[in-house]
Amino acid sequence: MKVHTLQEEILRLKQEKDICILAHAYQSQPILEVADYIGDSYGLSVQASKSTHSNIIMCGVRFMAETCKILCPDKHVYLPNPVAGCPMAEQMDLDTLLALKQQYPQHTVVAYINTTAQLKTVCDVCVTSASAVDICRKLENIKLLFIPDPNLGHYVQQQLPEKEFVFFDGGCPYHKHTTYEQVAEAKKIHPNALLLVHPECSHEVTEAGDFVGSTTAIMNYVSTSPATEFIIATENSIVEHLQYEYPEKSFYPLTPSLSCPDMRVTTLMDLYHCMQGTGGEEITLSPDVLQKAGACIHKMMELGG
Ligand code: 13P
Ligand code: SF4
Repeated sequence: MKVHTLQEEILRLKQEKDICILAHAYQSQPILEVADYIGDSYGLSVQASKSTHSNIIMCGVRFMAETCKILCPDKHVYLPNPVAGCPMAEQMDLDTLLALKQQYPQHTVVAYINTTAQLKTVCDVCVTSASAVDICRKLENIKLLFIPDPNLGHYVQQQLPEKEFVFFDGGCPYHKHTTYEQVAEAKKIHPNALLLVHPECSHEVTEAGDFVGSTTAIMNYVSTSPATEFIIATENSIVEHLQYEYPEKSFYPLTPSLSCPDMRVTTLMDLYHCMQGTGGEEITLSPDVLQKAGACIHKMMELGG
């Protein structure tokens, strides 16, 4: 079957089965073309909470589908490829967090949304890369235990010197290995290009960035910038999407190794099978997890709004 034939069939099934397709901006171009909404983790959460469809398919990774389910407990929420996880979301278990909470009993626990629903049950508030600075600023407590990404955490700390942070030694296994040497090399080849950085990148790369923001913020920045060349320091799918959207501009990856296999595992055919009921996984969470993780996510929506 050709890609465009499959896309037409998917568009038809969307109507027939009352399905809303949400796609993270790291998904493949053929998936983005059939999605109802494309965005970063925060935007996807907002869209999920507003959706009027009875079925939502979240093309992204598991924690994003779990977030949709928590925000829409009465809807059917599906992850088209069940192996799509986020290694960062799974690197901290409940016991480790409970031990840290005992060590820092006075701290408000701020969870990056890239955490499991189970971990969120013992956190106070969620943040995303787009909303972390705003939400942490609004928290009354100055003592914050920020998990699991210390790179995003340090970036937030720089904007909020009045807060006291404790970090966990985690992070995205791909973004965290970015280096200043990669920046120097890319700038040598493309001296006029602006460096756009996701805050999960290493501290030295974030510091060197001309702009730092979430995936959506990076894409929005390009749309309004008069510059014509950009080095992109986030998952390399963004380089491809920007190239499609702005063919008159040039986009270069910071490094070919900034590629997330979990974000790339979902195919258009997985989406099709999920819609047909022959693949994918329906997300189910216990009432306890829905309620406790929900409190943490609803607090994010309230403060991030
Ligand atoms: P966003 O918050 O920009 O969507 O980032 C999520 C993510 O997983 C980045 O690696
Ligand atoms: Fe998780 Fe990193 Fe992949 Fe984002 S890029 S989904 S943080 S592993």
